[in-house]
Amino acid sequence: MKSSLLIANWKMYKTVEESASFARLLTERLRGWWNPEEVGLVVAPTAVAIFKLAQSLADGGVQLAAQNMDLGTEGAFTGALSAYLLHEAGARLVILGHSERRRYFAETDALVAEKVEAAWHAGLTPVVCIGETESERDRGETQTVLDRQLAAILKKPLGSSHPLIIAYEPVWAIGTGRVAQNQDVGQLAHLIRRWLDQVQAPAAVPILYGGSVNPENLAGFLSLDDVDGALIGGASLSLDHVVSMVKVAMGARQTDTSIAKG
Ligand code: PGA
Repeated sequence: MKSSLLIANWKMYKTVEESASFARLLTERLRGWWNPEEVGLVVAPTAVAIFKLAQSLADGGVQLAAQNMDLGTEGAFTGALSAYLLHEAGARLVILGHSERRRYFAETDALVAEKVEAAWHAGLTPVVCIGETESERDRGETQTVLDRQLAAILKKPLGSSHPLIIAYEPVWAIGTGRVAQNQDVGQLAHLIRRWLDQVQAPAAVPILYGGSVNPENLAGFLSLDDVDGALIGGASLSLDHVVSMVKVAMGARQTDTSIAKG
């Protein structure tokens, strides 16, 4: 029986107050029917809102992710935020290697790999984003790109102290309203699963799809064998959409259970 995971990536949107009021309303709207064991829910607000949200979401089952982190523990690195600081503020996961970080902040595969190690060290679960650009896809290089990005982070056997989440996000589908075909996502998620098998990752490593996910198309992605959830940007800024997507994921799980029972 598959459990699913939804991660809301708010990017550079929502003030601290807006984030806090969203979190309060979200907790109210989920009360009584949402089961976090069945559908995990993670919110990645701006870094300045993490501490406040950690206090308001403390017992509700919604977890917090940072959207990025810097290397190092502490030191003279003006402007940097270490994994330790984010963990102390209340984050339990960290999104790494998002295509916007790779594109606008020149993050390389090697840097992402270093950050993954630092996140593990601080007790954060890295959510590593991989995916091809439109021109790479047009040149038929999608698999090569994914292989390169995965090779950078999956160099050794993973144990229980290396929790990991992989998000496949085709760059051309992010924020564009164009989604990848379910069949293509299914095949690429399978390729990612084979990579994880090679490093003996625990079967529990979730693989997410990201790129213009919304309440209408979510169920299709969740129905794919190797896809365990979604990383959601634009649609996660709306409370109604987040509540709808949690409902969709809870429903998809129930369908799954009835299929399993025959
Ligand atoms: P999107 O963003 O849902 O707005 O396409 C996804 C992401 O950037 O993680």
